[in-house]
Amino acid sequence: MFDETDSPKTNRRRFMKTAAGLGVASLGLSSVSGSAVAVEPSETDQWTREEAEQIKLTDDTTAPVISDNPNSISDDYWIWDTWPLRNRDGSIVKIDGWQIIFSLTAPSDLVPGARHNAATIRYFYSRDGKSWQEGGKAFDTPLGHHQWAGSAMYDPTEEQIYHFYTAVSPEPEFRQRPALGIGASIETSPNGVELTGEQEHVIMGTPDGEMYQTLEQSRDQGIVYAFRDPWYFKHPESGEDLVVFEANTPTGSTDPSDPQSFNGNVGVMRATNDELTEWELLPPVLEAIGTNQQLERPHFVFNDGKWYLFTISHQFTFAPGLDGPDALYGFVGDSLYGDYEPLNESGLVIANPEEAPFQAYSWLAMPHGDNILVESFENFRGLDDTSQGAISLKEVGNLPPEEQKELFGGTLAPSLKLQLNGMKTKIVAELNDGHFLPSVGASSGSSNGK
Ligand code: FRU
Repeated sequence: MFDETDSPKTNRRRFMKTAAGLGVASLGLSSVSGSAVAVEPSETDQWTREEAEQIKLTDDTTAPVISDNPNSISDDYWIWDTWPLRNRDGSIVKIDGWQIIFSLTAPSDLVPGARHNAATIRYFYSRDGKSWQEGGKAFDTPLGHHQWAGSAMYDPTEEQIYHFYTAVSPEPEFRQRPALGIGASIETSPNGVELTGEQEHVIMGTPDGEMYQTLEQSRDQGIVYAFRDPWYFKHPESGEDLVVFEANTPTGSTDPSDPQSFNGNVGVMRATNDELTEWELLPPVLEAIGTNQQLERPHFVFNDGKWYLFTISHQFTFAPGLDGPDALYGFVGDSLYGDYEPLNESGLVIANPEEAPFQAYSWLAMPHGDNILVESFENFRGLDDTSQGAISLKEVGNLPPEEQKELFGGTLAPSLKLQLNGMKTKIVAELNDGHFLPSVGASSGSSNGK
C-alpha cells in the first residue's frame, strides 16, 4: 500500500525534476499578464507512514516539564488557541507600543471539554509582549454558533483588521466554515487598546467533496472531522493573499480500523479579489493519508527562501499502527507545493515530555530572526504517564467537574525558542508564559519576520 514506486512523494519528485530549469514553474509559480506571477497548484505531498514511524522524543524535540503553577491571563475565562495580530508580511503588529493577541475563550466555570461548544474569540493587549490585559470580544456579531481558530492581519493603510476564523455550528454536528470578519479598527491610549468599528463577515468556502471531504462524507468514517483554522499569509514571491487550513481528503474508506480512513490534509485557498471577500479552493499542499487524521492549525514560517510548514496533532489521531505524541510537527519545502520533507526526519518538532504528555497543546511557530518562537496553551497538566498509574485523557470527562477543572491549565504556556538549522530544529530556551517576542529581521534570505 505504501510501496515507494506508487507513493505520491515519488511522483512529486519526478514532477519537480521535469519542472527544473523552467524558471518560475519550478517555484510553483506561473506568469500572469507577462509580469506578475501566480501560484500554480501542483501535486500534493504526503506525510508518509514511513516518516511517522521515525518519531522519537529526543532532547532537541522534547519540551521541558512546565514547573510553575499556571497564572492565568484571565480571571473569568479558559484560554486556549491563541494568535497574534500580524502585518501582511507575517511580522507581529506593534501599534503605539502595543501588541495584540486573540484567543479562543470560554467561561471557566465550564468543564474543559464543554469549552469547544462555547468558544468566543477575545483580544488581549500588552506593551512587553508577555503581561496581557483583557480587552473584550473580537466580534460583535460573528458567524456561527461559536468560533474556532484563527489568524488576524492588520493593514495599516486601510487601518482595518482582516480577522480569519472558523464559524462552527452547535455540538454535536460542529459543521465548520472558514470565515472572515473585515473592518475592526484599533484605538490606542496610554492605558490600553480598544477594537472598534462595524465588521462585515463572509464565509470563505465550503468543502467540494473531491479535494476536501464534506461533513456528510466523513460521517461514515465515524472519526473526527475538519474544515477549519484559516491561517492568512502573503505569498513571499507572488504577493498573493492565501490561507492554509485544516481539512480531510476523501479516500472512500469508511472503516475506522483501516489506516486509509485517517486522511488529514493541509488545504489552501486563494483570494480572487483585493477586498479578500472572495476565495477559491486550491488543492491541499500536504496530506497525511494513512498517517494522521488531523493536521490542525497549519501555518508557515519563511526563512532563507524555505517554506516551513507547521501543524499540531494529537496522539489519538494517528492511524492504527502508528504512535506519536501530542506535538508540533513540521515540514520544509522550496515552494508552496513542497517538495516537503519532514523536519527532524519524522516531522516531530516539539513534543510534550513523557512525564506530562498532555501538558500543552496548540503550538504556534512564529519567525524570530533566524530562530523560531513557539507559543502554546496549558492543557491537562495533571495527566501524567498512564504507565505510572495516572488516569488517561479519555477518563478525564468522567471525573467530577471540580476535579476536571483542577487538571486543566486553560491559559498560556511558557513560550519556547527553537533553533532552525535547515531540516533540523532544536529547543534552546524556555521563556515566560505567553511570551510573544516582537519580530526581528532574519539575517539571511527572504523572511516574514522583518
Ligand atoms: C486545536 C483546535 C483547533 C480548533 C479549536 C477548537 O486546539 O482543535 O483546531 O479550532 O481547537 O476548540
